[in-house]
Amino acid sequence: MLQTIQETATYLKSKMHTHPETAIILGTGLGSLVGEITDKHEIKYEDIPHFPVSTVEGHSGKLILGKLGGKDSLAMQGRFHYYEGYSMKEVTFPVRVMRELGIKTLFVSNASGTTNPNYSIGDLMIITDHINYFPEHPLRGKNIPYGPRFPDMSEAYDKELIRKADAIAAEIGVKVQHGVYLGTQGPTFETPSEYKLFRLFGADAVGMSTVPEVIVANHCGIRVFGISVITDIGVEGKIIEISHEDVQRAADAAQPQMTAIMRELIHRS
Ligand code: HPA
Repeated sequence: MLQTIQETATYLKSKMHTHPETAIILGTGLGSLVGEITDKHEIKYEDIPHFPVSTVEGHSGKLILGKLGGKDSLAMQGRFHYYEGYSMKEVTFPVRVMRELGIKTLFVSNASGTTNPNYSIGDLMIITDHINYFPEHPLRGKNIPYGPRFPDMSEAYDKELIRKADAIAAEIGVKVQHGVYLGTQGPTFETPSEYKLFRLFGADAVGMSTVPEVIVANHCGIRVFGISVITDIGVEGKIIEISHEDVQRAADAAQPQMTAIMRELIHRS
């Protein structure tokens, strides 16, 4: 495993002219951040040795190297979801490669349904903590010596970055929520009873990504900032039918605010 990660990193280093310490996983709601990257150099996932191969034809994804918020950055356009059939080792492989490349800070975004009655569609939620509800743990198996066998998770989302994001949101007049993100395997959206259960667990938002990558980043000593756009309501009595298109539409509408916060946060991080 370690050798595979290092081989991938060696290949990427041979293609890189910069030494970024910032990485971004461009999830739902952050697609337009790509347009803000300058001095771009793109590497298709399919050209990277050992990188997971996309299950969807024509959606292979790519790594984008360039400058964002004045910083040398590495962006992942396209992430690997557990529901697509990837193992947790594959889902989190790019984060381990980031560790080998010298990445110190990881920014992630996603879309989610809310279980919090005080949230609305289009709200941005800064992730303060998560609940791992995936059926497989990304660190299961032989420990890779990037971190301890039993990693601490008391501050999975960096408090200083959260403080900075709050300050930026206030400056630019964007309302942000703070909450707990629960990650499920998907691909179904939740039944009303599942949303109710997740609320009882302490979740404010539910989605199908992020948690595995954040766990592995923490294990690797990479600090994390995460933000979620609320695209649907999972609150008892308010639940309506939802489709992937609804999620996409709501995420697209919130995209300018999300992008503005991220760009400035990367600049100040
Ligand atoms: N549940 C799970 N994943 C999601 C949701 C949801 O309600 N909305 C967007 N992604």
